[in-house]
Amino acid sequence: MIQGRNILLIISGGIAAYKALELIRGLRKNGAQVRCILTKGGSKFITPLSVAALSEQPVYADLFSLKDETEMGHIRLAREADLIVVAPASANMIAKMAHGLADDLASTCLLAADAPVMICPAMNPVMWTADATQDNIQKLTARDVTLCGPVHGDMACGETGPGRMSEPEDILQAIENHFNMNLPLAGRTALVTAGPTYEPLDPVRFIGNRSSGKQGFEIARALAHQGASVKLVIGPNSLKSIDYISTDRIETAEEMLKCAEESLPCDIAICAAAVSDWRAASPQNQKIKKGESGPPSFDLTRNPDVLETLSRHSKRPGLVIGFAAETENVIENAISKLDQKGCDWIIANDVSDSAIFGEDQNEVTLVKKDGTEYWPKQSKESVARKLTQAIIEHFSNQTPALRAAE
Ligand code: CTP
Repeated sequence: MIQGRNILLIISGGIAAYKALELIRGLRKNGAQVRCILTKGGSKFITPLSVAALSEQPVYADLFSLKDETEMGHIRLAREADLIVVAPASANMIAKMAHGLADDLASTCLLAADAPVMICPAMNPVMWTADATQDNIQKLTARDVTLCGPVHGDMACGETGPGRMSEPEDILQAIENHFNMNLPLAGRTALVTAGPTYEPLDPVRFIGNRSSGKQGFEIARALAHQGASVKLVIGPNSLKSIDYISTDRIETAEEMLKCAEESLPCDIAICAAAVSDWRAASPQNQKIKKGESGPPSFDLTRNPDVLETLSRHSKRPGLVIGFAAETENVIENAISKLDQKGCDWIIANDVSDSAIFGEDQNEVTLVKKDGTEYWPKQSKESVARKLTQAIIEHFSNQTPALRAAE
């Protein structure tokens, strides 16, 4: 999970420095704070102005700058980072790191840092395969420096071979993996359905509902924050997509089911969507006119049940969770829904005297086969975090035999 992390990005000299700009943009889009050091070599390829504009932070360049040292001493710059990424890492920068040189701001910060370091080498293939560089790389990896790339490809110098810096999206993924490694849901995959479905009557009208999609969206986010790789299948709503959550935007129940089934196998499925139970049997291709013959009538047909289909699927996720909106006998109805749909847990809402749709708060009971847990009124974000915690406990309580069978 990159969001909220402090990344210190060191941009050393090389034509690949231009890719660092794309990397900064990706890190910012994913919610990271990015501080950048541009080495003397790096500044021959990209300007401090573009780095500052994209990172929305001052750019640091000079070890002996009184201004930089007053604002942010080099020790603080190194110590406040959750991860230091050197991209591109030139042969010279790698050699300085391997030998502990500290003759500029970048190398001094690297020596003073206790944060993990990732390097993304970029150089000519002969320089990369040179014994000196390979010895330096061995030294660094033995010190737990993470290596991202280089990859094989065409070089700016006209040669082809290993030495090309990894693409920004691959570096971003490596950074993501670095942070996810120790999270409790790392390596788990989750599918979340959310929002309403719109079932067309004609090209401009539909059967729908007022679901905002907020609860499912927050669940997707909470799972991702704990390291899960999340697919969100969401009906029409005004929520903005988040980069670290793979999102399929759909309209109808049938489209939702198709996307959900395409996401199998996965470890966790949470159906928070307010799926329309019915759709028009024959939606009209042209707009229905008022005409003279009075109000139109529609034949309706049942929509597929996404939750039930996933629960009874041959590739059934290990943990399937549904929602139930009830106005009376909340727990009894939730328990019978659990049986009807074949899921493992139900989050039951009492909607008898409150409007949950579109609200930021929710009051629910987690219903499992062996008991219930009431969660008083709280933000949907907080409900999502509690549910995620329950999921983490569920997986950590699994016996080794069960885990091996997954
Ligand atoms: N659900 C689904 N596909 C449907 C209908 C419902 O996946 N076609 C899921 C919802 O996402 C939710 C649960 O099933 O997790 C709710 O079930 P549903 O029977 O629709 O609940 P209620 O609307 O509470 O049911 P009822 O109308 O029977 O009270």
